[in-house]
Amino acid sequence: MKTAIDLLREAGDGTALPPCDSRFHYVPPWTAASLETLAEEILPPVAGIAMRYPAAGRASELVTANETATLIGACEYVRLRGGSDGCPLAFGGLPAELTEYARRERMTVREALDCVAWFDASQRVLTGVGIGPRRPAGTPALDGALYGPELVRRYNPARRVTERFNDVVRGFAKGFLGSCRVLELGTGTGRVARNLAPFAGSYVGIEASLAMIGEGRQDGLDVRHGDMMAIPLGAESVDAVVEHESIDFCGEPLLAAGEIERVLTLGGHFYRLELETAPVAAVGRLQEEITTRLAEISGGVFPYWTKGQRQRLHGWLTRRGFVYRRIELARWEERRTLRDWLQGLVNASYPSFAGVDERTALSVCVELAREASLGDLDRQWPGQVGMVVDRYEFVERCP
Ligand SMILES: C[S@@+](CC[C@H](N)C(=O)[O-])C[C@H]1O[C@@H](n2cnc3c(N)ncnc32)[C@H](O)[C@@H]1O
Repeated sequence: MKTAIDLLREAGDGTALPPCDSRFHYVPPWTAASLETLAEEILPPVAGIAMRYPAAGRASELVTANETATLIGACEYVRLRGGSDGCPLAFGGLPAELTEYARRERMTVREALDCVAWFDASQRVLTGVGIGPRRPAGTPALDGALYGPELVRRYNPARRVTERFNDVVRGFAKGFLGSCRVLELGTGTGRVARNLAPFAGSYVGIEASLAMIGEGRQDGLDVRHGDMMAIPLGAESVDAVVEHESIDFCGEPLLAAGEIERVLTLGGHFYRLELETAPVAAVGRLQEEITTRLAEISGGVFPYWTKGQRQRLHGWLTRRGFVYRRIELARWEERRTLRDWLQGLVNASYPSFAGVDERTALSVCVELAREASLGDLDRQWPGQVGMVVDRYEFVERCP
């Protein structure tokens, strides 16, 4: 019988990585503390101004000097900053369209509402709270900031897990984790955890979203509520850290990397599991187009921020002396509906990431598929699916 993992090839111990970073467009490198400040201190006064001056009000009336300062400060805050935040992707200052307003002591209502709209488009992917006219102002931030109950509902149906996927993850666990104390980061609804845990020496997962945990615990998994940027485990307490599509989704992956280094024993491994999907060329082109269109529709400054995230994390780990190997676990042919091939991109339209709702995202898929003569979303298309793991071995503890 064919084993689940083929171990097709082990490649490279250098720093070269395939340039496939375009999957995580919407994850900004913000620290948890900055996000908290944003949600709790910066957002509520702006929401208050939005309520005081509804869009239908007198556009040329002046708002107060305090309100002007509040709005300018909020817009500056939500713009990525460098330096103290250690964020290498900083923009800094105000966006060009608002710099003129910042020179006034008092803005007009129209200008103030421009600021509110810009601030809202930029911040809602971070806090999960919208302050646009039709949304309740100052609603508390969603559980787990980005992953609340709405996502949980959509999560599993939108992410098809095949038996082959399950087999390969189980094969990986048997081959690599057998006697290890394993920590999984960002377990989500537990679709990877369920395949890892039974074959690990011991298993614990951490997850920031209570709603996601609720799903995972149904299988009796030991998943704890926690932040991978402040892992609730002692130093040198695990032999392997595993993640699948989660470290890219935390506020600042490099903070998580520092924590991984802290909790790993010397000689331990950090594994980044990755599912690579490559449909036939025509569908691949459509994926690119849809991504671009969704980024345009979302209209904020956020899309494409994290291009380079993978290299950033990889560079950090290798500079800290982790030894890298890319291991291809398995690769196989799969036929999927067009809807399935595109689903990952619709996932990226989760409102809390991009401000594009599910229906809009789906109708963009339908429209572009029609334009490209690819038929309806239920039509089957072939492609290749592969499971690879980026393995980082912790060989030396740097000061
Ligand atoms: C795309 S999901 C992946 C879930 C799971 N690994 C899977 O493959 O289905 C990303 C998960 O990371 C979690 N997450 C994001 N930031 C986190 C953090 N700072 N600490 C722990 N979990 C976090 C999210 O709540 C979410 O469940």
